[in-house]
Parts: sequence; structure tokens; C-alpha cells
Amino acid sequence: MKENASPKPGASMVNGFDPARLGSLPERERKMIERRQTLLGSSYRLFYENPIHVSKAKGVWLYGPDGEAYLDAYNNVPSVGHCHPHVVEAISYQASQLNTHTRYLNEQILSYSERLLATFPAELDRVMYTCTGSEAVDLALRLARHYTSGTGIIITENAYHGVTAAAAEISPLLGASVPLGQHVLTVPAPDTYRANGGDVGAALAQDVAEAIGHMRRRDITPAAFIADSIFSSDGVFADPPGFLKPVVDVLKKAGVLYIADEVQPGFGRIGTNMWGFARHEVVPDIVVTGKPMGNGMPIAAAIMKSDIQECFGRDIRYFNTFGANNVSLAAASAVLDVIESENLMQNARETGDYLLAGMKSLKETFASIGDVRGSGLFLGLEFVRNQDSREPDSALALKVVSGLRDRHVLISASGLNGNVLKIRPPLPFSRENADMLLDALRDALVQINRSAGRVAGESNSKR
Ligand SMILES: Cc1ncc(COP(=O)(O)O)c(C=O)c1O
Repeated sequence: MKENASPKPGASMVNGFDPARLGSLPERERKMIERRQTLLGSSYRLFYENPIHVSKAKGVWLYGPDGEAYLDAYNNVPSVGHCHPHVVEAISYQASQLNTHTRYLNEQILSYSERLLATFPAELDRVMYTCTGSEAVDLALRLARHYTSGTGIIITENAYHGVTAAAAEISPLLGASVPLGQHVLTVPAPDTYRANGGDVGAALAQDVAEAIGHMRRRDITPAAFIADSIFSSDGVFADPPGFLKPVVDVLKKAGVLYIADEVQPGFGRIGTNMWGFARHEVVPDIVVTGKPMGNGMPIAAAIMKSDIQECFGRDIRYFNTFGANNVSLAAASAVLDVIESENLMQNARETGDYLLAGMKSLKETFASIGDVRGSGLFLGLEFVRNQDSREPDSALALKVVSGLRDRHVLISASGLNGNVLKIRPPLPFSRENADMLLDALRDALVQINRSAGRVAGESNSKR
């Protein structure tokens, strides 16, 4: 546990474009970047040392302006596939009928809410809508603070929960220029790879208990522990299933709420369950979701137990102008249709298992791969300098991300040291797509070895 733990210095982003390289880009892209800088300013970042220019998308493919195809193994927002025809049709039809807000009676929000809540444990029986995951996190914090009369929030060391003032101050990933809130404490993520077979759940529970004690000693009432259910920015940790149980026991005993951030793993991605927390057989007090909910339309939500909502609702009114507008609701409803009709959760499980098996076999060949892990179509592959010391190899991860980009396969990296490949494709990703990713990964690693003067089978391969 660290008080106001200082996050990583600087405002750089893993796999971010370095504007110093502008001169090396083709004229068309260089001019576009110059215009972006002039129009949007310097906070906006681009992925890749050689940024990708896209103009169309379909299914798991993104296309450049000259028709070149990129396999999308990274984007969870187009969860049921880019520009899915059923979603496109639903949006377009709804836009021609009605698009307004929640201050009029309308059937659509009721039927969607019934459908959404049916995917949650019975205790989670209220939903409030926002436009973004950050707003949903912000609302969850308000709900938790109001219910507990507390202010303290516990997060993981490299968490990311969004861009509003309240969400940013619980997002150490944003770097040292974005200070954590005064009443925010961090705990280490449940890093199974470095736990040496130790019980990551028990360790996390102990750290959370200590953070609660620390707050109380300073007269801070703890309100909530919030965690991404697959710890994606911390490096992707899904196993062993159930590791959150002891943590939730600690929280319950202390009267501290558990907020599950499902913005990344939710809507069937982990293959075994619709929601990441369900893998751990726990029931959160509040859940937030967003990104994959509307396949790219701005819709997000906080789902909570009714007593938490009622406590808030008695005292505080809520209206979010665009939250749950009819067109976004139509998209969200169409997303649920497609997840069901195309068995996308099952596909996430089967293709994810296949991909993970392929990654395991790469691990047998390349000694730089320290660990492969994850669940369904949310996978991580960790690079290390040495399998014994497990020292992170961030430079190699970055080279591999770029190498894959050059082979027209898109992923990125995450983790405290940016050394974990983050693989998180749209849910219709097929075995054939997985093979393309694995082939490109092997090829990129072989080439990186070769240019470092190594041959496959030497120092970067298994001893
Ligand atoms: C875990 C998590 N929570 C919250 C957010 C914020 O969502 P949004 O970008 O829709 O505001 C993100 C976005 O990346 C996220 O990854």
C-alpha cells in the first residue's frame, strides 16, 4: 500500500507516437499530424512509432485510405465487430424515429434496462446511464461516497479509470503530472506471475485491509475499493478464478463498497462469464461499464444494489442529457442481440483458448516470453529479460508491437512497465485470425532476434 504513491513520471504513453519522428513519415501522414497538433493541441496521442491512418472498418478489419487491411486484435469498443450490419441498421432506424433524453416516458429504456439487469446477479437491480466509462466511474464514486459518508478510495498501482477530475485522481496510469486524490491509496495488483505460486487473493486482501486501517488511523472514512475486473492496465490478471473472494470478505466486514470496473472485460469478452467479476464468484456493490456496450456509440452505465441507489436518489437528482439517448440505446440493444445470436461469448472462450495455447507454445520457443495469461479474448503476454529474475523487458514489448504493426496486426502493451502485450480483439475474432496473429508474432520475434545478432534457438530461445 502506498499513500499518494507517485505514479510513473512524465506524460508519455506506452506505444505512443513520438512527435520528434515526424520528419520520417510520408508527407500525407506528416501533414495530418501537423494539423492535429495545430487543431487539437498536444494532449492527444497517436499509437505507434509509425501511426496508422484508417478510413474504413468491417468486422475484425481496419482499412487504410489506400485499401490496406489491418487485423484488429486490440479494439474492444467495436465489441461485436466494426460496423456490424445489425447495429448499423438499429442506429439508422432509431435515428429516423426518435432521439431524445430520459425526461420523457419511453419504452426503450425500460426494455433495455430489464435486459441488461438480467445479465447481473439479482442483487444488482438498478441501472443509471452515462455516455462514457469515465462518467460511470465518476457516478459510482459519488454513489459510494454518499452511501458510506466516506471519502477514501483504494485502487491498484497502475489503475486507469478515466478522464473526469474524480476518475483521473484514481488513475495512476496517467503519470506524475496527474496527482492522485488526497484520500486515495494504492495497493499492488494481483501479479500471479511474480507471486511464485503464492496466494494473490490473500495478499490483495491483506493489502486492502491495511489500506483501510491506514485510512481510519488518519480519520479518513474509506468509501470504496475499485478495480478493473481483469486488471488490464496493471498487466492482465484473471487467474486463479475466485481470487477476489477474500478481498470482498475484507471489504464487507469493514463496510467498504466494492466497485467492479467492467469497462474493459465486460460483455462476454472473458469467455467464461458475461462480467469479469463473475469469474471470481463475487457480487460487487456497484458495477461500471462502457466501451463495448454500444459498439462505438457513446453509452455507459453504473449498475448497483437498490439500497445504494435509493440512498443517493432520495437526496440527489440525476439527469445526463445524452446518457441513454434513444439512438445509443438502440445500438446497445443490438449489441446484446448479436452477442446472443452469434454466440460471441462462446467464441471468445474457444478462440481465446486456442490463441492462448498458441501463445504458450511460443513461450516454449522464446525465452523472452516470461508468461502468457488471460481469459477468453483478453490475453496478456509478458516479456522479460531473464526468466529467473523476471526483469521486465519493455523495449522488447514495444519492438514487438511495432513489428506486428508492420505486419498489419494491431495490438498494444500494458502493465506497470509496459512489457505486457495486450491482446483484446473484437469478439468475432476467428481461429484463422488467431493464426495470423500468432504467425506474425513468431515472425516478428524471429526478426528481432536476427537483427540483435541472435538466431532462433539461441539466447532469446529457451535454455
Ligand atoms: C478500466 C477503465 N475504466 C474506465 C475507463 C474510462 O472510459 P471512457 O474512456 O469511456 O471514459 C477506461 C477507458 O479506457 C478503462 O479502461
